[in-house]
Amino acid sequence: MPAKIIDGKKIAEKILEKAKKDVRTLKEKGITPKLVVIQVGDDPASSIYVQKKHDKCLELGMASEIKKFGKKITYTEFLFEIEKLNKDDSVHGILIQLPLPEHLSHKQVFETIDVAKDVDGLNPANHGKNLLGKECFRPATPIGIMRILDEIGVKLEGKNAVVIGRSNIVGKPIAIMLLNAGCTVTICHSKTRNLKEHTLKADILISAAGKPKLVKENMVKKGAIVIDVGTTKMKNGKLYGDVDFEKVRKKASWITPVPGGVGPMTIASVVENTVKACREITNA
Ligand code: GUN
Repeated sequence: MPAKIIDGKKIAEKILEKAKKDVRTLKEKGITPKLVVIQVGDDPASSIYVQKKHDKCLELGMASEIKKFGKKITYTEFLFEIEKLNKDDSVHGILIQLPLPEHLSHKQVFETIDVAKDVDGLNPANHGKNLLGKECFRPATPIGIMRILDEIGVKLEGKNAVVIGRSNIVGKPIAIMLLNAGCTVTICHSKTRNLKEHTLKADILISAAGKPKLVKENMVKKGAIVIDVGTTKMKNGKLYGDVDFEKVRKKASWITPVPGGVGPMTIASVVENTVKACREITNA
């Protein structure tokens, strides 16, 4: 039997429905949750993701602002802009869209974001709390993946989870979250030898490599749950995941499509985190 397809849009709707109610309650108290998304440069893919977050916030009655800076902004100027947002009481969530230009991708950029407004969980303090399994802001995509696994009713304890990708925004945090939930976790990456040897052991396989068709049918164990985080825009304008969907589908038990799988969950999680930050900052 082919895998059941996980409808990320439908799961995200539930989260957004709850966020909408929370926004209404906050607004009744005179508080409007506000997200500021910072984009440096004009990478077309980043512009689309940033706009989607912005539009979703507005749709739910929140406030949202996109701050775009040219690639020539200096490190000092950039930190100054973040500090301004930290001090601005009308702002509850700050998200810096990645990738950043080389000269800004120091860890100090994320250290500068107020921990209480770090709705993408990239401040090292939030990474550390995630590592320890403590209450904190976690990156939106890993939250979305955990939500998907919960929604399909998988018991995580004792499962073999294999994560492809070691980014700070997806690979590392999701590996830690799965480990804290009792999985046996393997992290694979671009330097991993014989990837297939690892992926074949996965009860849960998460690919966040950004390489179309990296995960082939012969790399997946029968009945595995396959979560595809990859989004690569091809010349034909179509979005492709990391997984050879049609073939892998025949072997997996559950699979996320691209688009419509993890993507909508990421947006919903950013919104949810911003509402949470607003509630905590304002004690509402
Ligand atoms: N770039 C692509 N996806 C994301 C995301 O979820 N958060 C941030 N900050 N940058 C991204």
